[in-house]
Amino acid sequence: MSSTLFRTKKVEQSILDTEEPEHALKKSLSALDLTVFGVGVIIGTGIFVLTGTVAKNNAGPAVALAFVAAGVACALAALCYAEFASTVPVAGSAYTFSYASLGELPAWIIGWDLVLEFALGTAVVAVGWSGYIASLLDNAGWHLPAALSGREGADGFGFDILAAALVLVLTAILVVGTKLSARVTSVVVAIKVTVVLTVIVAGAFLIDGKNYDPFVPKAQPVPAGDSLQSPLIQLMFGWAPSNFGVMGIFTAASVVFFAFIGFDVVATAAEETKNPQRDMPRGIIGSLIICTVLYVAVSIVVTGMQHYTDLSVSAPLADAFKATGHPWFAGFISFGAAVGLTTVCMILLLGQTRVFFAMSRDGLLPRFFSRVHPRFKTPHRPTILLGVLIAILAGFTSLSELAELVNIGTLFAFVVVAIGVIILRKSRPDLPRSFRTPWVPFLPILSVCASLWLMLNLPAETWLRFGIWMVIGFVVYFLYGRSHSLLGRHEETALNGPAGPSGTAGPGRDDAV
Ligand code: ALA
Repeated sequence: MSSTLFRTKKVEQSILDTEEPEHALKKSLSALDLTVFGVGVIIGTGIFVLTGTVAKNNAGPAVALAFVAAGVACALAALCYAEFASTVPVAGSAYTFSYASLGELPAWIIGWDLVLEFALGTAVVAVGWSGYIASLLDNAGWHLPAALSGREGADGFGFDILAAALVLVLTAILVVGTKLSARVTSVVVAIKVTVVLTVIVAGAFLIDGKNYDPFVPKAQPVPAGDSLQSPLIQLMFGWAPSNFGVMGIFTAASVVFFAFIGFDVVATAAEETKNPQRDMPRGIIGSLIICTVLYVAVSIVVTGMQHYTDLSVSAPLADAFKATGHPWFAGFISFGAAVGLTTVCMILLLGQTRVFFAMSRDGLLPRFFSRVHPRFKTPHRPTILLGVLIAILAGFTSLSELAELVNIGTLFAFVVVAIGVIILRKSRPDLPRSFRTPWVPFLPILSVCASLWLMLNLPAETWLRFGIWMVIGFVVYFLYGRSHSLLGRHEETALNGPAGPSGTAGPGRDDAV
């Protein structure tokens, strides 16, 4: 049994599958499209919202160092992602990579993990977007009824109608085609980057050096409370829970890590890339470098404009301008943030439908979902299904509860990818790799350690929720995925008789739902 759990899908088979006409995606993306995609999804709620929260609660002005720490962990992971994405250029990201290297069960776990992380990430960002839009509407004198503006409605019932509407509109755009949405993305990304640069340049003139004192605030014990909310590492070693100080920087890093989520989504579009061998590493690493530089600059400027204890937690960038007497800039930033969060939502949605699509094409989820639309050539079925589910989730979601869960899932995926690089180098040294991760196995091992370190700095309750999530995944795999796996059927056919044309399991396999 263990041999079937760890059966691997040949890299060549993965590439062959993408060439079946009914299950093929259009190859239309260039390195620039990918970089724009990356920047489009990376800059979002993390920098626009979480910077203020973690500066105020965990790190003070040293939040800039937290961004560096999270950025380093992501850069290590990116170097591993880039090798995998350029070796296995098919839809599905870490899922596909681990199917080719670690085996079916680890691949299932990762795929399951990614679909849900992206879904929750989309919901989190949609709710953040809705907050900015609601504040802009308020400025114009329009107010939504409380029951339709968020989870905490007046009578106990609240549905975030704006967040849900955003997800549904984006779902429709994705069904019509990636190229169209990539064009929309380019315009929105330009607006978002302009806003971020405005914060950096205009804000630099408003810095007051006194605000940097102290740069790393002294560690402060937190009042004894629910121990499940303390970082796991503090519980493991029996440390007294504290905020700020050096450990505060790492706690902050594990939260602002959310700001970097998205460069891995670029890898999920490998199959739609014209020249994945060359463009994929460029797209991933390029977008990551641009964002890290912008984040560090923004956080240095904002904590210089306002003392960290005074920063706002809902709209810190805009409010810092208000506090320094520049409301016009604040309005412009709020508008740009609202526009920018749109692309973040859209690309997270895109990434997760592609993972779902890849899992369905392999038979681990119903094959019904992997038929592309005859005209648009997009995986419309998982897009619509997941879009509607996320719209409902976004309507009822609380931001803070879910952001950390998204982080732990993504970090877990990074760990698996880094291990996968080492394994695939040993098991398939022959595969052409246009991009090779340097210093294997040291760099991947370092990447595993960095991701694990950030995971350990997340609250114990986040670990608990993640565990429950994964247990559900195991149940689904053993009840459905394992017996419907196309790879398993290929192996059975190979054992019991000759394989069908091009090595498939024969007619009727698409109906195996
Ligand atoms: N990195 C994305 C954001 O910060 C998910 O919103």
